[in-house]
Amino acid sequence: MKIQTIIEQMTLEEKAALCTGASAWTTTPVERLDVPEMIVSDGPHGVRRVPNVHEMALESLPATCFPTASCLASTWDVDLIHQMGEALAEECIALNVDVLLGPGANMKRSPLGGRNFEYFSEDPYLAGEMAASFINGVQSKGVGTSLKHYAANNQEFQRFSISAEIDERTLREIYLPAFEKAVKQAQPWTVMCAYNKVNGTFASEHDILLNKILKDEWGFAGLVVSDWGAVRDRVAALKGGLDWEMPGPQGRRVQEVVTAVRSGKLDEAVLDESVRRILRIVFMAAETPKGSNGSIGGEFDVDAHHELAHHIATEGLVLLKNDGILPLKGQQQIAVIGRSAEQAHFQGGGSSHINPTKVAVPFKELKAQAGDAEITYAQGYPTDDSFRQDLIDEAVTLAQAADVAVLYIALPTFKESEGYDRTDLDLTDQQVALIKAVARVQPQTVVVLNNGAPLAMSAWIDEVAAVLEGWMMGQAGGTAVADTLFGKVNPSGKLAETFPLKLADTPAHLNWPGDAGKVHYGEGLFIGYRYYDAKELPVLFPFGYGLSYTTFEYSNPQVSAKTFKDLGGVTVSVEVTNTGDVFGKETVQVYVCDKQSGLVRPYKELKGFAKVALQPGETKTVSIDLDFRAFAYYHPEYRQWITEDGEFDLLIAASAADVRHALTVTLESTLELPCILDKESTVREWMADARGQAVFGPFYTQMEAEARKMFGSGDERYGNDGAIGMDIMEMFNDMPLVSVLMFQQHTLPTHPEDMVADLLQQVHN
Ligand code: BGC
Repeated sequence: MKIQTIIEQMTLEEKAALCTGASAWTTTPVERLDVPEMIVSDGPHGVRRVPNVHEMALESLPATCFPTASCLASTWDVDLIHQMGEALAEECIALNVDVLLGPGANMKRSPLGGRNFEYFSEDPYLAGEMAASFINGVQSKGVGTSLKHYAANNQEFQRFSISAEIDERTLREIYLPAFEKAVKQAQPWTVMCAYNKVNGTFASEHDILLNKILKDEWGFAGLVVSDWGAVRDRVAALKGGLDWEMPGPQGRRVQEVVTAVRSGKLDEAVLDESVRRILRIVFMAAETPKGSNGSIGGEFDVDAHHELAHHIATEGLVLLKNDGILPLKGQQQIAVIGRSAEQAHFQGGGSSHINPTKVAVPFKELKAQAGDAEITYAQGYPTDDSFRQDLIDEAVTLAQAADVAVLYIALPTFKESEGYDRTDLDLTDQQVALIKAVARVQPQTVVVLNNGAPLAMSAWIDEVAAVLEGWMMGQAGGTAVADTLFGKVNPSGKLAETFPLKLADTPAHLNWPGDAGKVHYGEGLFIGYRYYDAKELPVLFPFGYGLSYTTFEYSNPQVSAKTFKDLGGVTVSVEVTNTGDVFGKETVQVYVCDKQSGLVRPYKELKGFAKVALQPGETKTVSIDLDFRAFAYYHPEYRQWITEDGEFDLLIAASAADVRHALTVTLESTLELPCILDKESTVREWMADARGQAVFGPFYTQMEAEARKMFGSGDERYGNDGAIGMDIMEMFNDMPLVSVLMFQQHTLPTHPEDMVADLLQQVHN
């Protein structure tokens, strides 16, 4: 039956019920019209399918726990993320799940965000690429996704209620583009709204975000689902564009919708539109057969998916420091220290928690690859926050006797999880003391970290020989760590977020986490490397950084055109050569730097990247396309993305702090922008606008001459600054034209207000 026909046959009560879940994880079926139930499950980096989808159970069925988003983004490998998406879909099909609740595409505004491990990056371009690939991978197999949490869900503190106060340009350039890219490039079946408010309105009721931007402007064709428990006012939410409330059942909410339609408070057409969107997805989901006869128990390839999780982890681990100790070779005795060698810390706490099919124990994996070397083990630190000198002493004794100490240090969940933010960037006191004590007796100390977001390391990093960032590396990460330590694989992950030196350096520091119900995004566009660039602040490790066991040389940078039109864009290319002795992979990054712009812009912004695999001595050409959006910025007065004529530098880089080549190009804008001059526009704005200059330009010289006559044009005794000790035009240029003319009324044929009104009429005609 056609969707429209079904809608026509549904009662008001049935429609209202469809727009609310039937249970924790299901839609409301309409049996008499053959509308089936649809099942959703968390996400994002594994399938968290509870045995009974009608209940909010804690235990879930075994599924592959892939690395979390911090690790995924550090691979910079969109094809790999696509493959992971396909594998997730296969598990959804086997476990009878129609829609996987992920990926998360929020920005890492502060490294303190408790849920940062579930998000990709501090950079919207990279996060958008990752999210789009993830979605395309899952959906290529006929399983849906839920892009979340839309929008500005950047902290856990008061996450159900806080209002993220963000100016329009920052929202458009930083907090929305990853969602926009994912919607436009991948059309997720569903988008999940955030819990928080944005500029005072709940994301679940946000007409501008949901209706105007997501659905109308970006063309999102799927359904919007609430985050679990995010709806406060069901009728306002329907009007605002929230189609499906979760979880259910919510009899009272259903009744509210029915009453609102009957009383005329809610137009039934609004409800019908949500019903249409939900039915469309429910029927799309039903097209993919799931499980065995539609129930749990289908099969997926556990080993192959474990192996994929392993491969992704090897690509996402980031080698942060290496004095030359790595890869390990020929050591006779290895002291393995740290609880997380035995108890792998490979995922974060909260709704994304997966029941893994199996777990690669780091200690065992290391031992398996260590050949004849003798391996000793000490716990090093306890599970809780207590300080245990005895554990440190035991570790020191082992480290002293060995050729090398490998410390597995995991940030405990009481410091990092969904549901609460971190309060600092530090390891526990015990962990810091342990690292320092071991390094004091054993200069060959390697630290392997497991955490979801940046750590401060200044207290100990100079004392150790190597640091490997292992993230929350998924169930197979233990093998990936051993592979990397012994050089079976060459590390190729690069940071998708800046590691600051200290908390006080971070962009949101003075505006975090907010109070009185609001958090002001005072740093505006300047998050992540955009901030550190602008402040010229040193960092511990820059965005895009990661070491390898080989070296890469960049040569012969080229651009397809030196002068180009914005709509056509340009292609940048560079030759990359592996100049070392081992196979390796390099991620080339292209940042765009606008040399002069009408509004303030970050110094540089990532607009393209490519990962390339190279044998020793091999050279490959990497090409990266830059389109209109690579050069544009969002202008809040034009209320659109604009380009401006002028020069741009294209920075070809190995990290945000390692620019290898710069090419200058000239953009010719094809935009015909409406004139935005108004009665408050300044003299400078009139002169900067082509139409403004055409009508006002002739008066400018006269105005300047008059100003200099009134205020003098120089005083020889005090330099040439004019009679009142200043250059009057420097001030006048930034005053509204009408205000300047007020001072010159006596010279004008008409009143200044009439004169400006007349000029405005001319420019707006
Ligand atoms: C989380 C979502 C999750 C949902 C369902 C919420 O608390 O914010 O990410 O998908 O619960 O578990």
